[in-house]
Amino acid sequence: MTLRAILAGTGSALPRTRVSNAELAERVDTSDEWIVERTGIRFRHIAEPDETTATLGAEAARQALAAAGLQPSDIGLIIVATATPDNTFPASATKVQALIGAPDCIAFDVAAVCSGFLYAVSVADSMLRTGAAKHALVIGSETFSRILDWEDRTTCVLFGDGAGAVVLSAEEVADDRGILATRLHAEGKYCDMLYVDGGPSTTGTVGHVRMQGREVFRHAVTNLADVLGEVMEDVGLSATDIDWVVPHQANKRIIDATAKKLGLPAERVVLTVDQHANTSAASVPLALDLAVRDGRIRRGDLVVLEAMGGGFTWGAAVLRV
Ligand code: UT7
Repeated sequence: MTLRAILAGTGSALPRTRVSNAELAERVDTSDEWIVERTGIRFRHIAEPDETTATLGAEAARQALAAAGLQPSDIGLIIVATATPDNTFPASATKVQALIGAPDCIAFDVAAVCSGFLYAVSVADSMLRTGAAKHALVIGSETFSRILDWEDRTTCVLFGDGAGAVVLSAEEVADDRGILATRLHAEGKYCDMLYVDGGPSTTGTVGHVRMQGREVFRHAVTNLADVLGEVMEDVGLSATDIDWVVPHQANKRIIDATAKKLGLPAERVVLTVDQHANTSAASVPLALDLAVRDGRIRRGDLVVLEAMGGGFTWGAAVLRV
């Protein structure tokens, strides 16, 4: 028997308001044609004032708990991956804890931007396997619309808001179920390529997203293909063994190019970027939840998660559902 972190349930939440490219083109100098051709994005959800990173995260968490058949009181660890917390502190994880009514447990945020969910999954996996908790809520939740410069068409058309959550449970298993491998990377020398131009310790303001899109694109394809190769090697499996890839949803061209590099057919890649745009740390758990709920991802499937974002940070995980 082996102690592993098992995927026990998934959930997600999207803001009420959905905005099409055409609607965006009414207030920004862009077009549906440009956005679809360059990114594959057609819609994004934008949070209303009463919808925050914590409220969206809490809704996704409630769904994941229900799917796992657990109560808030069963949870011993809550990690929220986010770059857009409700407040500089306390951690959004403690706000989610209060909103779902979970009693005293471990709760903290992870800041690794678009790779945040992969970082959070990896931390939760380690903590569950060393006995820190029996059940963990791992949440990616973002309200990037609050930190976009709506005058900058090179960034504001790319992002959306939302949340996704998973329950991971520590279980002794006799088979290869659960998280089988994770790999994380960071290269801070590229921190100026995708960043926010404000913060508590510098400007004292929240700031806006700035990105050198072409450079990020180039690094993303290389780094993601490399890290996917690493985790598959870790588990001794090849691309043909993968049932589903759930990639970070930044740009359909990045997703297609990465899949092509690895020889993965498009039918095995979960795609939501057309409906949600880039929801940063929320994009992987959101896509995972949709594919679980619509029956594509089933018990026994080998699933690979990957993401890359500001820092640069990137990572991947392999799990048997
Ligand atoms: O979450 C992880 C981080 N993010 C990413 O992974 C994003 C990575 N980068 C990308 O997805 C792409 O680089 C973008 C979608 C951001 C841009 O696509 P691109 O093919 O690299 O376009 P570009 O930046 O080279 O811009 C091409 C042209 C420029 O015009 P000129 O200089 O050729 O005349 C831009 O000014 O497109 C123009 N442009 C736009 N036109 C209409 C830039 N943004 C827009 C826009 N609407 N929204």
